[in-house]
Amino acid sequence: MTIIGGRYQVNRLLGKGGMGEVYYGVDLQDNTPVAIKALKPDVVERDPSILERFRREGQALKELDHPNIVKMLAMVQDGDQHYLVMEYVAGGSLYDLLKRTGRLPIEQVLPIALDLSDALTRAHRLEIIHRDIKPANVLLAEDGTPRLTDFGAAHIQKLDAITREGGIIGTVSYLSPEACRGEKLDPRADIWAFGVMLFEMLTGRRPFDRREKMATAIAIIKEPLPDLVALWPDAPPQIVDLIYRMLEKDRERRIGSMRQVGAELEAIIQRTGSGVKEAIDLFYRMLEEDRDKPIGGMKLVGARLASTGTPPAESRQSLPTRQANIQPAPPASPANTASPSASTRNLILLSGIITAVLVIVVIVLLLVL
Ligand SMILES: Nc1ncnc2c1ncn2[C@@H]1O[C@H](COP(=O)(O)OP(=O)(O)OP(=O)(O)O)[C@@H](O)[C@H]1O
Ligand SMILES: [Mg+2]
Repeated sequence: MTIIGGRYQVNRLLGKGGMGEVYYGVDLQDNTPVAIKALKPDVVERDPSILERFRREGQALKELDHPNIVKMLAMVQDGDQHYLVMEYVAGGSLYDLLKRTGRLPIEQVLPIALDLSDALTRAHRLEIIHRDIKPANVLLAEDGTPRLTDFGAAHIQKLDAITREGGIIGTVSYLSPEACRGEKLDPRADIWAFGVMLFEMLTGRRPFDRREKMATAIAIIKEPLPDLVALWPDAPPQIVDLIYRMLEKDRERRIGSMRQVGAELEAIIQRTGSGVKEAIDLFYRMLEEDRDKPIGGMKLVGARLASTGTPPAESRQSLPTRQANIQPAPPASPANTASPSASTRNLILLSGIITAVLVIVVIVLLLVL
């Protein structure tokens, strides 16, 4: 049985990534589970500064102590072998989940996306860019909430690696156009990768994937974004609009910050919630109406119900051109800043649906009697 750093017991293999193998382990000091990443020696050899980077960013993130970021617990060296010891997350990765399900319903995507945008907002504030956002680096806790991992892992210039014999570490699917061109990255590269991931979660496919990695990189730089609505006809226009703004090739025109992405996601969630609240209000107003003065027939009720939802859809054809005109998200009002838990939101949604059905039954009864 291997024990590293005098306290971490290395047990079974959890999986392999581009940087090394990850093992399930136990911190013998307090008997808690940990994940131990054994870095491939050649990764460290090729870029010795990566260790310093892990140490620095690991420390900063430890101080940040964000509930949606996997905690880095220790770095251990044993001869040539380097290990990263992390918090263990039990529910598998988003990659595994997508492999099983293909795509996810929007009710599941929005809370995950909101948590991730919050984690990245905080990291960006510490001037830490993730650089490798992809479903494999989003782990899921047992309650389904996400934990972002592998900050700063993709330090190695991937495009260099594509052109070199021996291939590339990891995938290019989430690289931003500026990353494909080998430019210096800033937090907007994370916004792009997050946009690709949202696209994938909702449609089941990555927007620019080609058979060859180089062809994928060229498509990222040159090809327009595939029509999201053709792939997902029920897509709410607000989320389509947000994804288009995250996947703006010119980063100067891309939505400006992860905080803005989070605010937009929150507004989409709130809007859904407030639509339901309005439906409930309408139901109670109808109950209070004089039975001799019905509220104006099915058409008026329909119109009122329609006005409780999201604003009318803009022409979807116009979405790509809107990218040139990015408007900052309106600041959330204090009442809107509280983010209800996923289960609360589901409960609200369910009660809304039940209420809507009841409203229709009452209307039919009013019309019949
Ligand atoms: N903290 C953790 N807790 C539980 N499982 C983990 C943890 N970190 C990684 N894993 C699992 O270990 C496996 C390998 O992870 P790793 O990060 O090495 O691979 P990757 O994300 O596919 O590639 P890379 O990050 O190198 O580009 C994955 O299946 C992942 O789910
Ligand atoms: Mg990883």
